[in-house]
Amino acid sequence: MPILDDRSLEFLSHSPEQTQRLGVRLGELLKPGDLICLAGDLGSGKTTLAQGIARGWGSLDQVTSPSFMLINEYRRADAARLFHFDAYRLSGVGEAIALGIEELLEGTGPVIVEWPERVAEALSHQRLWISLRWMDDLRRGIHIAANGLRYERLLLKFRQAAFGG
Ligand SMILES: Nc1ncnc2c1ncn2[C@@H]1O[C@H](COP(=O)(O)OP(=O)(O)OP(=O)(O)O)[C@@H](O)[C@H]1O
Ligand SMILES: [Mg+2]
Repeated sequence: MPILDDRSLEFLSHSPEQTQRLGVRLGELLKPGDLICLAGDLGSGKTTLAQGIARGWGSLDQVTSPSFMLINEYRRADAARLFHFDAYRLSGVGEAIALGIEELLEGTGPVIVEWPERVAEALSHQRLWISLRWMDDLRRGIHIAANGLRYERLLLKFRQAAFGG
């Protein structure tokens, strides 16, 4: 597993289950207000990773694919909320704002955004940016970049939790 530097990490997932497990490790570390961007082509595994993140965060809700939903909301026992925003079908940032993305991002619930490049203008530069890349049927390259001190710390903790390093 090549570790690049303090602000980025790159590794290979060999199965959907492994991607979900990595998501769980990340979800366990999320704090109110965290922004996690998931970039990558169709079928690269963004939703699969998001499902693990929601589970690790402690979602009480069945984590489903947001195929027909632009915003999925997951609840936790302590009444906290996690939001999963999918920008794929949006015409642009205006539609995202109409749907309330700014309020979501200002709120306390962590927010996961799929297709973040489509709503880039609405997103803070302080964030974890995860890029997934299709390698073959079962393998995905996953690159994580941290922007801002909070996210550098989050990435460090994730590295320790997921890889013990
Ligand atoms: N290592 C892997 N990690 C994640 N998904 C994998 C992996 N190997 C195979 N897959 C499969 O790839 C598909 C990924 O679908 P998923 O919905 O997560 O992608 P997505 O990036 O959210 O796509 P979309 O852009 O359409 O929302 C699933 O069918 C999953 O089982
Ligand atoms: Mg998806």
